[in-house]
This record gives sequence, C-alpha cells and structure tokens, in this order.
Amino acid sequence: MAIKIFDTTLRDGEQSPGVSLSVKEKLEIAKQLAKLEVDVIEAGFPIASEGDFKGVQKIAQEVKGPVIAGLARATKQDIDRAGEALKDAKKPRIHTFIATSPVHMKYKLKKSPQEVLESAVEAVKYAKTYTNDVEFSAEDAFRSDKDFLCEVFEAVIAAGATTINVPDTVGYATPLEFGGLIKYIKDNVPNINQAVISVHCHNDLGLAVANSLAAIENGAKQVECAVNGIGERAGNTALEEIALALNTRYDYFAKQSNLNLKEIARTSRLVSHLTGMEIQPNKAIVGKNAFAHESGIHQDGVIKERTTYEIMDATTIGLEENKIVLGKHSGRHAFRQKLEELGYELSQEELNSAFKRFKNLADKKKEITGFDLEAIMEDEISQVDEVYQINLLQVTSSPGLATATVQMEKDTKKINESACSEGGPIDAIYEAMNRITGLKCKLADYQIDSVTSGKDALGEVIVKLEHQDKIYVGRGISTDIIEASARAYNNAMNRILNTVTSDK
Ligand code: KIV
Ligand code: ZN
Repeated sequence: MAIKIFDTTLRDGEQSPGVSLSVKEKLEIAKQLAKLEVDVIEAGFPIASEGDFKGVQKIAQEVKGPVIAGLARATKQDIDRAGEALKDAKKPRIHTFIATSPVHMKYKLKKSPQEVLESAVEAVKYAKTYTNDVEFSAEDAFRSDKDFLCEVFEAVIAAGATTINVPDTVGYATPLEFGGLIKYIKDNVPNINQAVISVHCHNDLGLAVANSLAAIENGAKQVECAVNGIGERAGNTALEEIALALNTRYDYFAKQSNLNLKEIARTSRLVSHLTGMEIQPNKAIVGKNAFAHESGIHQDGVIKERTTYEIMDATTIGLEENKIVLGKHSGRHAFRQKLEELGYELSQEELNSAFKRFKNLADKKKEITGFDLEAIMEDEISQVDEVYQINLLQVTSSPGLATATVQMEKDTKKINESACSEGGPIDAIYEAMNRITGLKCKLADYQIDSVTSGKDALGEVIVKLEHQDKIYVGRGISTDIIEASARAYNNAMNRILNTVTSDK
C-alpha cells in the first residue's frame, strides 16, 4: 500500500508568520495539489475566520480528486463549522484534535486526562454525524504519556476514528524515539488495525522529515506535510523531501507515494510566489541550487556520467528547460492554448485580462517563456479588489535624493502626491502612496527576484507590510523593477483595505 500524503500547506502552512492567502489563491493552490495527486488536502480551519471558512467551502465545491479535510478542535461548535464548510465535498474529512500532553492539559486546557479522553471520544462521535471519514489528532502526542496516548487512541478508534494522527507539535523528537513511539502505539493499541496511523512533525530541530521517515519504517501509513516545508515556526515536514526520499530510496523503504512527481517543481513555485515565502537556494529538492554543480571536479564528473554526483534527475520533479512558448505576434488563440497546456482553466473575463497583460509584456520582451506565463497568471490570481489603482508613476533619482510623483485612482477620483527620499526611488514612491491612501503601515520586508534571465527579464517584487500588528503580503511583476515595486506595494495596501476600513 502506498504512503498517503496529507497536505497541510493551506492550514498549518498558512499559519506561517506573515502568510495570509485570499480564497482565490487558496483555490489555485488546491487545484495544483490535486494535479500533484496528494491524497488529502487539509483546506483550512473553518472556525478560525470567515476567510478560512470560505476557503474550505470553495475548495470543497470545486476541487475533485483528493479527500478535502477541515480542522476542528474537539468541540461541537468547531465540528459544526467544519461540517458546514465541507458540505459539498465529494470526499469530506473532519480532522478533530485535542492535546494529550501533561503541560497542554494542565495549563492550556485546564482539563484532567479523563476529561480530555471524554472530549476526544465525544468529538469523534459528533464528527461521525457529518462524515464517516474522521481523523483524530492527539496534539503534542510526542510529549504525552505513552500509555495515556494509547488509551486515547483506542477509545477514539472505538468511537469511529478512521485515522489517528501522532503530532510532534513542538518538533522535539529525534528519529529513533519517534519511530519507537509509532511502534509502541502499534503494539499497544488493540484496535489499531481499524485505523490508519498518521504522523505530523514540526521542524524546530530540523528533524521533521527524518522523524516522518522513521515513522514510516515503523508502520505509519500517512504523512502530513507542507509544500516547501512551510508552517508554524520552523515549519512542517517538507512534502517534496518525503516524496523524493521514498522515490530515490525505494531500494531501502520499499514504499511509494501516489504523487505525480512531475508536478513538484511547479507546485513549489506556486506556493512560494503566492505565500511570499522565498525558498532558500540550498533547500533540498526545490532550492535553486539543488541540482546545480559548482566545483570543476563535480561538473566534470557529471558530464562523464550523471550519477557520479547526482542521485536524482531534475526532470523527475518537472524541472524542464524553460522554453520560449510565445512571441509578440502570438494571438489570443495561441495564448489560450498555451495556458491550457500549463493547466490553467480561464473564464472569458479572466482570459481577456491575462491576454492584455501578455500583450503589454510581449511589447517589452521579445520571447515569452513558460515561466513568464506562470508569472502573469500568478499575478492575476493574486489581484484583490482594488480600492486604489495606480495610474501614473514618475521618478527622478540621483545618488542621495529621489523624487516620486504618483497618481492613484479611487472611485474614479484621481489623487496626486509627491515625495522625496534619501532612501532611493522606491522609498519615495512608497511614501507618496502612503500619503495618498493615508494608511499607516510599515515595510517589513522587500524581496526582488527575476522570473527569467536576460536583460529584459520579468522582475517579481514581494513586499510585506505591517499594519496594526498584522503582516500583509503583496506581489507585483513587470520588466521595470520600479513598476513591479509599486504594484507589489499597491497589492499589499489593497489587501489591508479589503480587511479593514482605512485608519486615516
Ligand atoms: O502541530 C500540531 O499538533 C497540529 C495539529 C492540529 C495536528 O497542527
Ligand atoms: Zn502542526
């Protein structure tokens, strides 16, 4: 039997500091996860916010293939909200949890072990009134008393849980210990064969993948993971690392996942771009350097025989050459066809808007590659309702002083502002935009990257704005980095304005 991949990018991954995806963005990621053929998509935590509820609901309605799961604490209110959000899913799962470790029970829940056990059983029974597919997680399982943990698992399986999940919530375990815990559960929960054993590891000590693999060796059949390893604090088990470890070392594990590995690179890029979470260059599997060889000895070896220094082939994860796909004279039909080949399904309205962006780009850039098209589409997806639009940008800059004039439009009203800055042209633009919108926000992060190579490359800017203790991510692309910077700032500002009414 294959190892089930339970993807929690949209739930635990979305809990990464500074990540907040719109419903449209969550849906796009979920569609891509379905192409990747994950077994389960944990689409969100419906009671957490209206946005979370809507995200789970939309994914349940539109994404076919994987099981769609919603998270719920072990309370009726949470379970009702998850049940409601999952109503239209073909294969719904309610994932309910309660903490079982002494420290969590005593200080956080203020419940006795007996009360926790009863809440867990009640929650599973109640979740079963919505769907047969119920997963139970014992939060902080690794720091729980082993025998109490086994007692809880036995009781929830008797109550109908079809999956029991063993989280290392704080990333404290080491592989031998964690593998040992899974074996202990297998040996000491009498009805364990009636449920799938799942694991959920955090990466605080950099051991999440190693711990998950040790669990597989000891009988776990489901691994919870997130694309690029994003998640609370140091993140979750990285999906791509588990997938490639199983694939590359099939000789050792003798178990596979059901994933369509060719979609890994694409999924990784999409998640990184929409969440604004950059991937470290040396990150295993999906980092920019993961398949690059720098030293002469290595390059020479690879030329003579690839396997001298490569244990994996980049094409396995869909890292193909970035080919030229369209040009200045390509029409709407060719554009649509290329997007369909890349897997995008567009309404007429979306096509019109994306085609306009493509034509603008093709005027500046002779050759349009697959990565450029992806960037255009990701930019379209990350657009939010625009309270303000940028009409005009004018910048003069010399070392030490820059001046920017910006015209923005709100409800057909045009507003002009100028600002000077010793911090350079981008700072001057941002100051002028702050004056127009009246928003009191702070630039918490600014990243710039090129989508393709060459002097006419498309630049992508990601900014993080801090507003009332919350972080908002904005993206902008253009062949002109000043324009990309302004677009990114405007995107983040509009996200703020869509959440709160101006604090002018
Ligand atoms: O880390 C954790 O314990 C969790 C549970 C809700 C599964 O995310
Ligand atoms: Zn977690």
